Amino acid sequence: MLGGSLAAASLPVAHALIPHEGLHGQGAASASEHGSNGAAPGHAGAAHRGLVGSVDPAVNGFDPARTVRDFDEGRTRRVGGRLVREWDLMAEDKEIEVAPGVKYAAWTYNGRVPGPTLRATEGERLRINFVNGSDHPHTVHFHGIHRDIHDGIPGVGPGNIEPGGSFTYEFDAEPFGLHLYHCHSTPLADHIAKGLYGAFIIDPRGGRPDADELVMVQNGFDTNFDRENEIYAVNTVAFAYEQQPIRVKRGELVRIYLVNMLEFDLLNSFHIHANFFDRYPTGTRLEPTDFTDTVTQGQGQRDILELRFPYTGKYMFHAHVSEFAELGWMGFFEVVD
Ligand code: CU
Ligand code: CU
Repeated sequence: MLGGSLAAASLPVAHALIPHEGLHGQGAASASEHGSNGAAPGHAGAAHRGLVGSVDPAVNGFDPARTVRDFDEGRTRRVGGRLVREWDLMAEDKEIEVAPGVKYAAWTYNGRVPGPTLRATEGERLRINFVNGSDHPHTVHFHGIHRDIHDGIPGVGPGNIEPGGSFTYEFDAEPFGLHLYHCHSTPLADHIAKGLYGAFIIDPRGGRPDADELVMVQNGFDTNFDRENEIYAVNTVAFAYEQQPIRVKRGELVRIYLVNMLEFDLLNSFHIHANFFDRYPTGTRLEPTDFTDTVTQGQGQRDILELRFPYTGKYMFHAHVSEFAELGWMGFFEVVD
């Protein structure tokens, strides 16, 4: 969607779905921005009058506050002088909560949305042991350079992995950069929208400079099955980082691995307030191409962003598609000394 059509269609739905006290009438975002509510520092959640309650991480079994710094390096061993890195991924059907009181019948990798952020180093041999524990056929399709039989699409190699089935995808870690993986069974939009995706990082051989590293997978949820999203987020839970800001240190290099997995909408975007970042498209070069404060991504697009915060305080970040921000895709950095 673009423009007002989805806004008109989905906002009343959001009003019905998200427990709120005037999500739009209060101008929730601007109240937070200007601090006019007098909320105490560190209690950004209180600033958002649009949201009542919060999502209990124990119910979902995953917590956006952890997901944002959670990198899964798998298991490694040497085989004939080569490093082999291995992960187990299982598809599972699971109900998750994407906003307070808003349940969604998700399809997950390893019980979480997004799936684990898989992290390897350029040149390693990678093995992904996939087991389909879901009631539907699925695959795991990785972005990268590899042979067709390990591409995880229907009709090629093992094709769809049926419920109860398994397959080990195997390929080399190339090229370095920020990639992704997702199910590629049909109908594709449904298999992605239901939650079968995750970030996939291949570090360059020489690494990148030390930084506080964060992963942000932009996503959304079509909770009434009209093929438009009612909820938008980074790392699944609407307003998660508004309720619990991401704490970073003043002056420290912050590196954001930003992936857009949003289905049904053509574009998504990330905007940082009161700061600028270096942008490394797909992370496949070590020199940034841009110094900016907003990046727009189509589905499957990703960027590595690097920035430092010169001042302490609370700094908003959000989709610069205003409607997405109001429906959950916004949060705060809390910069401390
Ligand atoms: Cu699938
Ligand atoms: Cu893809």
